[in-house]
Amino acid sequence: MGFPVNRPRRLRASETIRALVRETDLQVDRLIYPLFAVPGRDVLEPVAAMPGVEHRSVDRLVERAREIYGLGIRAVLLFGLPETKDERGSEAAAPDGTVHQAVRALKDALPDLLVITDVCLCAYTTHGHCGVLTADGRIDNDATLEQLARVAVSHAEAGADWVAPSDMMDGRVGAIRRALDEAGYTDTAILSYAVKYASAFYGPFREAAHSAPAFGDRRTHQMDPANVREALKEVALDIEEGADLVMVKPALAYLDVIRAVRQQFPLPVVAYNVSGEYSMVKAAAERGWVDERAVVLESLTAMRRAGADAIITYHAPDVARWLGN
Ligand code: PBG
Repeated sequence: MGFPVNRPRRLRASETIRALVRETDLQVDRLIYPLFAVPGRDVLEPVAAMPGVEHRSVDRLVERAREIYGLGIRAVLLFGLPETKDERGSEAAAPDGTVHQAVRALKDALPDLLVITDVCLCAYTTHGHCGVLTADGRIDNDATLEQLARVAVSHAEAGADWVAPSDMMDGRVGAIRRALDEAGYTDTAILSYAVKYASAFYGPFREAAHSAPAFGDRRTHQMDPANVREALKEVALDIEEGADLVMVKPALAYLDVIRAVRQQFPLPVVAYNVSGEYSMVKAAAERGWVDERAVVLESLTAMRRAGADAIITYHAPDVARWLGN
């Protein structure tokens, strides 16, 4: 009389039971860790807005890669800062650029570490835009494609396992796939930043990558945060052009987009838990306002639950430790 027959709490009674019926898991082999390579030797500079993240010269980067490999992390996403910037971002494709040296050193030290390189021009151009500009200061989409293809091939030559174009130019996956194949890199996979929003959550990264645009913004190529059907169109195009995996970025404010992509397409979906998401948790945790470990594990589990196969996250080393690796 009035008492419930169905008591869902029975299956929450102990950790043994909860673990047995848990629908989503989070393991270190689902994580990809971003690294920032800078020119020089013995350089190790903290990125102020991202506690725990550093700029490292190649020698110190390899050191860090060994540490995180020891924690069970098997994949890294590599960003580079150039020695010099120019209008076209030439150094991005220089065979002896910072990223190229870093890729060679990482594959040399840890052959089984999956090395993914970010392909974009924003950190390499004087104006900080993701492409080459026309005389009147707009991004020249098709001229940018040629440059991006050169960058991707140069990364593959250095030994990158996968390339990850993050520029959001139309047609870049196709251009990169063709260039890689022509150069003989048929086994180099493309992880496309297929669904990349014009987000305020990239703020701390732009400090880390020295890649803030000198004028204007990225809203003519990155997506409007209000759109989700457009995300499905971007993914469909990238698949047609030869993407092997697709990314949704940022992650937390876009869990519905991750879900939609997962439901509609068979490709693996990667979520990018971006810099601003990381820094907010770090800042609140420093003040004792949130429990860092609990908040991070809950957030990453939510990304997996939404449908992400893998997650790019600056929290990866902490998570590996918390999960007991
Ligand atoms: C562009 C790039 C950006 C990020 C990854 N690749 C910044 C941007 O588009 O402005 C953001 C990553 C992050 O915020 O963690 N090369």
